Amino acid sequence: MTDVVLRNISKRFGSVEAVRDLSLSVNDGEFVVLLGPSGAGKTTTLRLIAGLEQPDSGSVLIDGEDVTRDPPGTRDIAFVFQQYSLYPHLSVYDNLAFPLRSPARRVPERLIKKRVEQTAELLHVSSKLKNSATRLSGGEMQRVAIGRALVRDPAIYLMDEPLSSLDAKLRAELRLELKRIQIELGATILYVTHDQVEAMTMASRIGVIRDGKLLQLGSPREIYENPADSYVASRLGTPPINFLPAHLVPDVAMPDGTEMLGIRTEHLEIGKRNGGTLVGRVHRVEHLGEQNHVHLEYKGKMLVTLADPHQPVDAGEDVELRLKHPLYFDAAGRRIPAVIQ
Ligand SMILES: Nc1ncnc2c1ncn2[C@@H]1O[C@H](COP(=O)(O)OP(=O)(O)O)[C@@H](O)[C@H]1O
Ligand SMILES: [Mg+2]
Repeated sequence: MTDVVLRNISKRFGSVEAVRDLSLSVNDGEFVVLLGPSGAGKTTTLRLIAGLEQPDSGSVLIDGEDVTRDPPGTRDIAFVFQQYSLYPHLSVYDNLAFPLRSPARRVPERLIKKRVEQTAELLHVSSKLKNSATRLSGGEMQRVAIGRALVRDPAIYLMDEPLSSLDAKLRAELRLELKRIQIELGATILYVTHDQVEAMTMASRIGVIRDGKLLQLGSPREIYENPADSYVASRLGTPPINFLPAHLVPDVAMPDGTEMLGIRTEHLEIGKRNGGTLVGRVHRVEHLGEQNHVHLEYKGKMLVTLADPHQPVDAGEDVELRLKHPLYFDAAGRRIPAVIQ
């Protein structure tokens, strides 16, 4: 069963093409993450699904039904906004109960109580139910904001960078919890973010979006290992992928048409000089505990790779580089399949 389908959706604001011919399906129980920088069209895509914006062309289907022209209130979705959207004068309990108390839904108080308590437990805020919403930490507020969506059981949850305002530690914690909750509830989620770690850790599938265009859609592993182009390759990976013009490595075998090599840290090994032609000079070694980042220069290009902390390598030293199955890109930045292995 497919839950939400976008068919060739386009939306412009004046001269800005916010979303361009975007097609996407989010299947039942799937956690799809749209990953893109600020201004890529992520929020607009969610607002189009929610009915808060109307597309210029294309259609939105929920559970097989075309809802493109339906008002937001009739669509079976729940939206978590980027900013906390709590009612400050209400208690945590009443904030969680609010979406269920709409006159249209007519949920009995007894059922509301059950649902609120279950949700509070899921989000570890049971002890805060009587607090006023203003007397919560940032992390608790965001949990309650997510809870306001989770009390309902919609066809899809739309989440707009819900963790972006939190500090790194809390973000890491809620990332894990959100994934746990999604699995527990079997929820269908479309989540948008600019954070590659959120995308890699939570998504069943990642859609990489830029300038309103969906560039590639696939599992985190597919996107990481088989990027369609150099932009997609650059979106995932820490430290980021290195790019090296092919003409700088004339002795390396590569497919016809290769203009650029994409070299992730795992594609670049360094060692003592041993007669090879690829020689770089180490500029800086960052000690990060379990691994070292080695920044080196090769023919005027800066590259970064990882090294074992026990491997003795110092700034100023010349080292030999070994490329292990890098990615190949043509002049337009499109990926060329590696026929040479
Ligand atoms: N209501 C609006 N009026 C005019 N331009 C808008 C409006 N909403 C979004 N945009 C523009 O559309 C583009 C995509 O915006 P948005 O969907 O908010 O991106 P993201 O959420 O990925 O940061 C941006 O260039 C933004 O300035
Ligand atoms: Mg946004």
